[in-house]
Amino acid sequence: MPEPVPAARIVVLVSGSGSNLHALLDAAADPAYGAQVVAVGADRDGIGGLDHAAAAGLPTFVVPLKAYDTREEWDRALTAQVAEHRPDLVISAGFLKLVGPNFLAAFGDRYLNTHNTLLPAFPGIHGPRDALAYGVKISGATLFFVDAGTDTGPIVAQVAVPVLDDDDEETLTERIKSAERRQLVEQVGRLVRNGWTIIGRKVTIP
Ligand code: GRF
Repeated sequence: MPEPVPAARIVVLVSGSGSNLHALLDAAADPAYGAQVVAVGADRDGIGGLDHAAAAGLPTFVVPLKAYDTREEWDRALTAQVAEHRPDLVISAGFLKLVGPNFLAAFGDRYLNTHNTLLPAFPGIHGPRDALAYGVKISGATLFFVDAGTDTGPIVAQVAVPVLDDDDEETLTERIKSAERRQLVEQVGRLVRNGWTIIGRKVTIP
């Protein structure tokens, strides 16, 4: 019988409600998915994402920026905490901090982020609000490998949703989030099962 392939090790970083983390945990419960979440990290206490992790019996760590004198020290501490869990992939699922050079040197080729607009339009933390204010008719979510910019890295996948005439920030955000969760689960599964290449800005999953 062939040796079973070990599941890829994923560390998820969160700052909020953790609905993307929850979707990943559900998917990873099936051994055929090919990945397991091995730890969850955050930059703040008291958030839903940490509750999901605790309910799943996962190790958690919190590395608040304000606990460090400099951003560089924070970046080093975050890198060390993530490295302890020997991840094959690190996923920012609503992690609201930009990581620094130390983190990118360690994980830059395997650090994913999901953003709630169709990049390169509307980067930053108010994506759906900015998209609505601009009057776009289609928005969506983008999964990408993080580089040193803000929401600028090579794109793995995008999913579009309509912007409706009576949308407000909340309704558009929720429509995007449900498409975003499905995309994240599907694409992370493909990445860990098939591997990937990044040539220039082009990501290919064989
Ligand atoms: C996601 O929509 C992500 O794009 C944005 O924050 C949201 C995180 O939601 N940056 P959750 O914490 O996974 O529920």
